[in-house]
Amino acid sequence: MSEVVVTLEKRAAVGVIWVDSPPVNALSQPVRQGLVDCLAKALSDPEVHAIVLACKGRTFIAGADITEFGKPPKGPELGAVIARFEASDKPVVAAIHGTALGGGLEVALGCNYRVAAREAKCGLPEVKLGILPGAGGTQRLPRLVGVPKALEMIVSGDPVSAATAKDLGLVDHVVREDEGDLLTAALAFAGRVAARRPLPKIRDLTAHIEKAKAQPELFEKARKDAAARARGGQAPLRCVEAVKAAVELPFDQGLERERQLITEAIESTESKALRHVFFAERQAAKIPDVPPGTPTTPIRRVAILGAGTMGGGIAMAFANAGISVVLVDREAPLVDKGMALISKNYASTVSKGRLSQAEMDARMARITGTTSWDGLADVDLVIEAVFEEMGLKKEIFGRLDKLCRKDAILATNTSTLDVNEIARSTSRPEQVIGLHFFSPANVMRLLEIVRGEKTSKTVVATSMKLAKDISKVGVLVGVCYGFVGNRMLHAYGREAQLLIQEGALPQQVDGVITGLGFAMGPCATSDLAGIDVGWRIRKGLPKPPPGERYSGAVPDRLAEMGRFGQKTNAGFYRYEPGNRTPIPDPAVEAIIAEVSKELGIARRAIGDDEILERCMYAMVNEGAKILDEGIALRASDIDTVWINGYGFPPYRGGPMFYADTVGLAKIHSRVLEFLAKHGKMWTPSPLLQRLASEGTTFSSLDARRAGDVPA
Ligand code: CAA
Repeated sequence: MSEVVVTLEKRAAVGVIWVDSPPVNALSQPVRQGLVDCLAKALSDPEVHAIVLACKGRTFIAGADITEFGKPPKGPELGAVIARFEASDKPVVAAIHGTALGGGLEVALGCNYRVAAREAKCGLPEVKLGILPGAGGTQRLPRLVGVPKALEMIVSGDPVSAATAKDLGLVDHVVREDEGDLLTAALAFAGRVAARRPLPKIRDLTAHIEKAKAQPELFEKARKDAAARARGGQAPLRCVEAVKAAVELPFDQGLERERQLITEAIESTESKALRHVFFAERQAAKIPDVPPGTPTTPIRRVAILGAGTMGGGIAMAFANAGISVVLVDREAPLVDKGMALISKNYASTVSKGRLSQAEMDARMARITGTTSWDGLADVDLVIEAVFEEMGLKKEIFGRLDKLCRKDAILATNTSTLDVNEIARSTSRPEQVIGLHFFSPANVMRLLEIVRGEKTSKTVVATSMKLAKDISKVGVLVGVCYGFVGNRMLHAYGREAQLLIQEGALPQQVDGVITGLGFAMGPCATSDLAGIDVGWRIRKGLPKPPPGERYSGAVPDRLAEMGRFGQKTNAGFYRYEPGNRTPIPDPAVEAIIAEVSKELGIARRAIGDDEILERCMYAMVNEGAKILDEGIALRASDIDTVWINGYGFPPYRGGPMFYADTVGLAKIHSRVLEFLAKHGKMWTPSPLLQRLASEGTTFSSLDARRAGDVPA
């Protein structure tokens, strides 16, 4: 017998329809069926004069059940469920707590009234899954809150708070403190409206639609903004089309148009990629040998060593999450500079209206700057964020070992160095881990969690939990040079530079990469980060082994000439003072031509396809090696790293998902051609070779491995 996930409870003259389908009350087939059945029961009961729709657990309905997408549909279809609620001849009040998202909000929009808890949020995030609201959301929301606001919510996918929802007219009532809990308030509200007729139905509202008809330019602008935001993705544009239908067509025809658009969208690679991204992010939190229930230690107080840009950003990430931070540096001016930068960053957010002054003050109060190590004796976690120099890091960890509590976690923010070697400089390598943040650390969502050979399960579990607590996406990786992200970045950057040596120009390479959906190409990114950074690192590295070409020749030359990038208004591009727009520079073309000549390379015309293939397949081949070596647990973890830390376009699903869409056999055969032409750095990964010959994908490898792992 299937589980009962929707029930009807009678509270005097009000029938409460309860949805209880953990974890997030998604609209699976049993939930949809249960809603229809319980509504019918409530409607046929003469003692029931009003209905409240409420949810058990952590949230109101958080949307359609995404796991059902792409599977044969099973009735009742959600649109039909909502139509029944809308046709009810007894008032229906949605009682919203947690998040009313997607199909969940659409169900609420099919009700006559909406009452929300103070902490509730409402949104239509479908665009983030490459689709659009498909159960009337694009037709009802504009009728309720107006076309411009509906466009904003549907195209961005961002939810609004209960207070904003009330201001917009999206909810009718937000529970006041003196009213008790949500159910009490919703029951009282239902009592007040029980006899009111006619029942308000959003489908009948016309004022906002008429207003929008007089503003035809609205959609042209929305389309332009959506295209710019989408960087090649189609979902935001489909969202605009659907809302436009709400203005141009009668309600039922608008629903029909919405249906056509969502049917196209669900089938698209873009939506498959974004669904992959959604589940990949959640999968990354699951570590096969560190199951849920593994003990964790509470992290209440953190010390950060190094008050530079990185240390300061990390401090902000903790302070934002309500955790106290001690920010330590060698000298008082360095501490002061770090604290001033943090204050400046917060002040800029306040000036944009995204943070209140009171909240800024509270966050600043959580951060203490100091030159003293005394406070380190009682912190739960230390994160070292000093220069990338092994000797210095070992010395610091040796000192920390003597000073910190035995159960304190000692973490390094190294982006490349050997975490095991750092751990060996302490007497407690099981307490040592890598926590690799990405700059700016208060903004970037990725946290690479680097597990050393001795790191304890408690420390791994605590770090994974910590990532979530500070609103990061934690991905567990193993120790190797550059871990997952930077190791693949190296392969990608190498090819970009070799292509430039052979005949491409920075603007051509960057154009191909932004054409794929990245915000920036590798050359513009180098200009932003500073060409001198890589130059200094390369000076300390051995020359590439025989059979491998040196890719640093062009950036080395630029750096030698003082062209460090944006900070000197010249790098791979030139910049007008105070403007970050890269401008192609004939002087750079001359420098590149000279370097090619010195290397004995006859420059040739290089097609965009070759640029795309070499940059992406180098990354994919390296990713496959990383997977084969067990540095990443899953291909989807690699995708999560690249999307959250390196700007890989989410609608392409990440490099490994992208590889699956291209076909591994094709990639493998091109890798072999590149091996023959360009040298042994193109040696195919044995895993890529195997999957290509089996005709399978990275996604199916992940699925197979997940099946092998006991739950
Ligand atoms: N369908 C299926 N499973 C879902 C789901 C959904 N809509 N939303 C969340 N889940 C699952 C997650 O995969 C996760 O499963 P595991 O524990 O097995 O990993 C579990 O629920 C908990 O999710 P989170 O870890 O994300 O929990 P959270 O508390 O951090 O966040 C949430 C909760 C805000 C609801 C978040 O899960 C979320 O944003 N969910 C997606 C919401 C969404 O996109 N809704 C629109 C769906 S599309 C739609 O509705 C189309 C339409 O128009 C009909």
